[in-house]
Amino acid sequence: MTTILAIESSCDETSASVCVDGKILSNFIANQAVHEKYGGVVPELASRAHMQHIVPVVDAALKTANTSLQQIDAVAFTQAPGLIGSLLVGTQFAKSLSLALDKPLIAVHHMQAHVIANLIPEKKPAFPFLCLTVSGGHTQIVLCESPAKLKVIGETIDDAAGEAFDKSAKLLGLPYPGGPLIDKYAAQGDPNRFKFPEPQIPGLNFSFSGLKTSILYFLKNAGTANVYKEEFTADEATQKKFIEENLADICASIQNRIISILLNKLKKAAAETGITNICIAGGVSANSGLRKALTALGEKMQWQTFIPPFEYCTDNAAMIAMTAYYKFLEKDFANLSVSPSARAEWS
Ligand code: KG4
Ligand code: ZN
Repeated sequence: MTTILAIESSCDETSASVCVDGKILSNFIANQAVHEKYGGVVPELASRAHMQHIVPVVDAALKTANTSLQQIDAVAFTQAPGLIGSLLVGTQFAKSLSLALDKPLIAVHHMQAHVIANLIPEKKPAFPFLCLTVSGGHTQIVLCESPAKLKVIGETIDDAAGEAFDKSAKLLGLPYPGGPLIDKYAAQGDPNRFKFPEPQIPGLNFSFSGLKTSILYFLKNAGTANVYKEEFTADEATQKKFIEENLADICASIQNRIISILLNKLKKAAAETGITNICIAGGVSANSGLRKALTALGEKMQWQTFIPPFEYCTDNAAMIAMTAYYKFLEKDFANLSVSPSARAEWS
């Protein structure tokens, strides 16, 4: 029996999970409300909050799994990428625990773990599969040949999909993180009411910065002028009124465009590779419009589609534990001198 304790602290969620033989027994997540009033994650505050949360979160994960530290066979942690101060808290905690328990240490890449989250549920994709990983910091299409053989075949050249949601929400005056709010308002809106441009980016790469600019121009003109032109005609009160009166349709139209950008590239990747097992992962895969659109597209294209449950989409330690489990089987252990990295290369 292999029992792994995993810790995730790459951004603003402190999470711990216990996994036994590839089955997740607990996944405890502490969110940090402290960032809301700043309109984004404040790195220094995130590190401090991780310091406060890490012991109770690990305790809760062990208790829920009915496990003690003495039963742990390996300690896993998120090594990269992320906010360096946040990563340091989890790394140091995991290293200390590994040293004190005299058990192996396993370093996990956060983006690979988002992909491996698809292997947590009973219904899992067979290899090879493609995974569209969409989070606050990344947008990637990953080709997975085995748990250890993951290759990025497409990625964003500027903003991530989550940033596109969050920055659009900010333009609409919505609080951070705006992604889930756009999702909520979009549910009552008409996705075809407003048309935002689709970027023409070659290959399997994505771009979202043009969309953000077009939304800015569109709002500054209160929806009356061409979204490509920088000619601001509406005063602030008119802009505000326009947003208030059309919020659901604006959110639905923005969401619709973000989804079409993502799914058109995914379609292209499936056609180029001939792979029909298709997954999504990352915080944005919690988006209900994306989940619905992927399922519909999958039926049309005769793909097998896989969408992790919500709790494994946004940042969580269960995905770290699952990735670590496969690394444990390969005896892929880290040295105690390992350090975290904000921007790790994909290995
Ligand atoms: O993977 P994640 O939890 O953290 C990162 O590693 O970045 O992703 C966070 C991102 C944020 O941009 C957030 O707005 C977005 O995921 N997000 C959503 C939804 N839930 C979270 N975006 C759209 N719709 C949602 N329901
Ligand atoms: Zn993430």
